[in-house]
Amino acid sequence: MNIIILAAGMGKRMQSALPKVLHPLAGKPLLSHVIDTARALSPSRLCVIYGHGGEMVPQLLAADDLHFARQDPQLGTGHAVMQGMHLLNDAEPSLILYGDVPLTSLHTLQKLIAIAGQDKLAVLTIDMADPTGYGRIVREDGAIRRIVEQKDATDLEQAIREVNTGIMVAPTGQLRAWLAGLSNQNAQGEYYLTDIVAAAVRDGVAVVASQPAAVWETLGVNSKVQLAELERITQGNIAHALLEHGVTLADPARIDVRGELQCGRDVAIDVGCVFEGQVKLDDGVIIGAHCVIKNAHIARGAQIKPFCHIDDATVGADSQIGPYARLRPGTALGQDVHIGNFVEIKNSQIGDHSKANHLAYVGDSTVGSRVNIGAGTITCNYDGANKFRTVIEDDAFIGSDTQLVAPVTVGRGATIGAGTTVTRDAPAGKLTVSRARQMTIEGWSRPVKIKKD
Ligand code: UD1
Ligand code: CA
Repeated sequence: MNIIILAAGMGKRMQSALPKVLHPLAGKPLLSHVIDTARALSPSRLCVIYGHGGEMVPQLLAADDLHFARQDPQLGTGHAVMQGMHLLNDAEPSLILYGDVPLTSLHTLQKLIAIAGQDKLAVLTIDMADPTGYGRIVREDGAIRRIVEQKDATDLEQAIREVNTGIMVAPTGQLRAWLAGLSNQNAQGEYYLTDIVAAAVRDGVAVVASQPAAVWETLGVNSKVQLAELERITQGNIAHALLEHGVTLADPARIDVRGELQCGRDVAIDVGCVFEGQVKLDDGVIIGAHCVIKNAHIARGAQIKPFCHIDDATVGADSQIGPYARLRPGTALGQDVHIGNFVEIKNSQIGDHSKANHLAYVGDSTVGSRVNIGAGTITCNYDGANKFRTVIEDDAFIGSDTQLVAPVTVGRGATIGAGTTVTRDAPAGKLTVSRARQMTIEGWSRPVKIKKD
């Protein structure tokens, strides 16, 4: 089948320079939600009608399977579909979706496509307690006769609660003819897609309807208020799916997933956590409150304590991170690694059983196994122009407040005394220390304040 997504509207109420359909919902543009659902239906043609916001939409969402057609000026939903007709295959029916209605489920669309078959016009409708603003479905003896827009409707018609969600399936050849016959003689001076319903009835084409399982499947975004409402609904749906999968959520209303979160068995997530991009939590992982975790893999049994920030990093099994730890891009931690409070790791590998428990910066480093990095240790990886690597071999002990001026290597089993500035390689198995010797001055006395009278 063909799928055509209408996304040219201007979204004035968003009060934003960004085209409405590019605003993110759960970390992904509204239009991308619709495109992803459309792709799951394996269409032979997938077209997007864009307009408002210039070339931003095709530039940002370009993909091999997507065809774009521009609608400028925007003269209504019927006019929008016309702009894409040259991209469609007449031998197959066409499904029309809206770029600002992001949550329609695959199942709902499959049902609509099934009732449409090859030759019927199918409309996704829904009963609304308050139908204000929507096109109303006018039936006679139960059969759909036409759709009347709010602004063109009589009082009697306005009382109808069954509304047009906008989503339709039409036989493509006839759709082409119906669109050619549209007029804009209506309250809004627009070419209404909804007028094809009366045209189908006139041509003796059966018009059928089906309904979605939930109202939110058909909700559109016209304002930031509605965007925020859909965000909550989406997050609620994601949280519900996680619970069904067996994940323990301290509060399903206080988790945000802006991407894909994959969880093993017996994973527990405390309140206030944000997951972005692709995150994988293996069996038994525990995430403390208020962590932000992006594009990361946390292996089996690892524990992330509260207030950690993890970005583009991997954490090995049984490791303990935080509270207040920051793992930056390129961090790869082995098994049973301990990273404590106010420790920042960037672009570094840390071997099994190693520890950096307090206040440290480890950047561009290769750290072996069973290494202990003392409080206040800093890898000086940057000379103002270039970055260099620090290598710390297995079983090394780095005393507190050490600076490792890269490029530098600390040999296997070496000990670095507290307060050392390591500028040359420290040999394996030995104590290296650079520190002025401590002395005590005999007979020294503290100055006292001079009294003035
Ligand atoms: C439309 C329907 C109405 C339905 C409602 C559901 C028509 C005439 N009316 O009304 O029956 O109840 O949706 O939300 O179809 N668009 C374009 N180009 C245009 C105009 C719109 O691409 O020239 C796109 C918009 O970006 C949006 C969609 O079409 O994605 C719907 O447009 P909108 O203006 O929201 O339609 P409504 O007037 O709400
Ligand atoms: Ca609308």
